[in-house]
Amino acid sequence: MPKSGGEPPNMVKDLDIPDKVRDELLSQGISELYPPQADALQYALVGKNLVLAIPTASGKTLVAILGVLKKVLARGRALYIVPLKALAEEKYNDFKAFEHLGITVGLSVGDYDDLGRSLDKCDVVVATSEKADSLSRHDLNWIERLSVVVADEVHLMHDPSRGPTLEVLLARIRTINPKCQIIALSATIQNSMEIAEWLDASHVTSDFRPVVLKEGVFLDGEVTYTDNTREEFPFLDDGVVSVVNASALAGEQSLVFVNTRKSTESLAERLGLYLREVLKKDELAALKDAASRLRRADAETTHVADKLANCISSGVAFHHAGLSPAQRRAVETAFKERKLRCIVATPTLAAGINLPAKRVVVRDVRRYDSMYGNLPIPVLEIKQMLGRAGRPKYDTEGQAILVAKTESQRSELLERYLLGEPERIYSKLGTEAALRSHVLASIATGLVAEDDDLVRFIDSTFYAHQAESWTLQERMDRALEFLEDEELITRDGKRLWPTKFGRRVSDLYVDPLSAVLLREAVQRAGLRDEVSDLAWLTAICTTPDLSTFFLRRSDYKLVGELAERHREEFLVENVDEELEREDFLAEVKTGSMFFDWIGELSEDGISVKFNIGPGDIRAKVDNGRWLLYAASEIARLFSYNDLSRKLRGLEKRVSYGIREELLPLVSLKGVGRKRARALHAKGFRKPGDLKAATTDQLASIPGIGKAMANNIIQQVYGGEMPAETRGTTFEAEVVEEGQEFPATTEPTRKEPEPAADDGASQTSLSSFGPEGGGDDA
Ligand SMILES: Nc1ncnc2c1ncn2[C@@H]1O[C@H](COP(=O)(O)OP(=O)(O)OP(=O)(O)O)[C@@H](O)[C@H]1O
Ligand SMILES: [Mg+2]
Repeated sequence: MPKSGGEPPNMVKDLDIPDKVRDELLSQGISELYPPQADALQYALVGKNLVLAIPTASGKTLVAILGVLKKVLARGRALYIVPLKALAEEKYNDFKAFEHLGITVGLSVGDYDDLGRSLDKCDVVVATSEKADSLSRHDLNWIERLSVVVADEVHLMHDPSRGPTLEVLLARIRTINPKCQIIALSATIQNSMEIAEWLDASHVTSDFRPVVLKEGVFLDGEVTYTDNTREEFPFLDDGVVSVVNASALAGEQSLVFVNTRKSTESLAERLGLYLREVLKKDELAALKDAASRLRRADAETTHVADKLANCISSGVAFHHAGLSPAQRRAVETAFKERKLRCIVATPTLAAGINLPAKRVVVRDVRRYDSMYGNLPIPVLEIKQMLGRAGRPKYDTEGQAILVAKTESQRSELLERYLLGEPERIYSKLGTEAALRSHVLASIATGLVAEDDDLVRFIDSTFYAHQAESWTLQERMDRALEFLEDEELITRDGKRLWPTKFGRRVSDLYVDPLSAVLLREAVQRAGLRDEVSDLAWLTAICTTPDLSTFFLRRSDYKLVGELAERHREEFLVENVDEELEREDFLAEVKTGSMFFDWIGELSEDGISVKFNIGPGDIRAKVDNGRWLLYAASEIARLFSYNDLSRKLRGLEKRVSYGIREELLPLVSLKGVGRKRARALHAKGFRKPGDLKAATTDQLASIPGIGKAMANNIIQQVYGGEMPAETRGTTFEAEVVEEGQEFPATTEPTRKEPEPAADDGASQTSLSSFGPEGGGDDA
């Protein structure tokens, strides 16, 4: 309760929260609130909407957690929206710490189509914005029952690809369930007040940071901080090496941000040469352990895994979207256990995450954009990276360092990034792709029944709050026209209806344009006796939901020849025209990756051939199987039942990366492409055949082992066959080690794929940092 002076309580013991929550906080060592937390809780704890825009590491999550717990312990329900899967896991664990108080927490990041029934049993659901959007399309009642929604990193509304989903989701929640409390957490941005106005929320902002973060620029062996203090570093090689090496010598950990994946790898390798000299014997032994665990994280070994393991044994790791989830987790864990001295990352690690990095060094402040060339990275993003240093749980002070080569660069970096203010953010809802998807969803869910509703709905968005909504009118009309022409909606005067197709497309959570392209492919296929796998695999790559590989100059000949050889197969209207189109060749190239995959080319083979990492293969596979599933559903909807079945089979092959003959074997839990192939090679064609085998026999097959053999035998004898059971099954439960494909049994599309970051961007980089353009080229 507020103290007599009107000041909000700053001690946990004085907070108006249930006793058991208070006790749990105290047992976590949190007894005193940071001033902006105390301010914010005045609103959060009484159910008011809140926009909390305070610096990194200032404990925004705790405010949200307490707001959520207050509601949930009074029988309310909560949704916690995050931008990234990695962050979802961290927040999920934060809530899990309160589960013994009698609440249930769910994590929802995959499986787009099938609404997990268990979600209904959760008091708190932590979800990515795409997942939450998808869930709300299936079940508006779920939204109606929510009593509080947290939007973490709400400033990401400005992101062109992800922002509109978050924005529309918030607008939808507010329309359907105006009483629902909204707690929005934001980085400090110039116009956080504008978000607060949009959400009818109280606005709390401050420049308080619990752990002092000294920010400075490195030049010639010395960092000058903004508080005018200086720190010298023995100069080695370049700025990054100097700072990281000195930190390691002092037993401290650092995090380095660069702008390309390739740079993360080459820099980590270079740093390893120094760090291994610094580390003690027992530290190196622990690292060796971590390295061998990393090597076994996935079922198949790849050169990326080798490279990463080598770096790890020298005390440094690289981290980017090309790594598999298991690899990323292994790196984060080793860093949290303070085994690794340094991680070199792309900005994938910049948002919201808590890591024990005393120092952050941002080497690159420019990044290549395919439209505009080499652009400065926004202040907002650089601040997010710098803010990973000095986190309360781990350190009492942090240092955030930019690297300059010349005096003029030094002052530029200082002015722009360290003394400058983060930008304003703007709604990105005005793009055609965002509009056609979200307008269809609004109509399909019944939220919008006529033109006037649509106007009202658009008026409720942040876009309309920032700009006059009429500026959207023309694009909106175009989106409506597209949906009507393609028979996703119908119109009767002012009244709008979804068609069966439209409703299904909205549920399937694919871009309406993807659905239309898939429908065309299905219709063409319906006229043919036979359609090749490559043709289907290329067809899914023509949709905007699957980003294609970059077509290198050296690809033209090979891909061109491949396309020419299969020209009669493609499900396109005019193949001559298509073959002239560079984009089509890129689609064929991407389709051929899926083709190699289901032809059982090894992960390493694929990663070398297409110059991608294991994480990219997973992202592509998730999206590919999702689109094949969508295609199969669309085929069924239009009564192409045979095609629909065939597409389901192909989807399953893509999810496992197998030839057709292995389909029966992968129905065994824990058996993926490698183990199925090994069993097949020994003459076992289907689960029933395994009854003839002994556990010892199976155990001696490469990649199976004793525990797995036991498990298989149990399954073939009366154990439940999980093949067609729906719902998420993590193979890791039964696999001793090495995650086999796929991780889930349902088609999933988790998040938009990571931006391609291959040679295309690297060769064009003229680095701003001390490296010169050299190491990326
Ligand atoms: N009052 C407190 N006392 C001690 N530690 C706290 C307190 N509040 C939060 N923390 C700890 O501070 C750390 C950072 O909090 P949190 O992740 O919520 O920061 P944030 O403001 O969301 O930062 P970012 O903008 O980087 O996401 C967490 O480890 C959290 O447990
Ligand atoms: Mg946060």
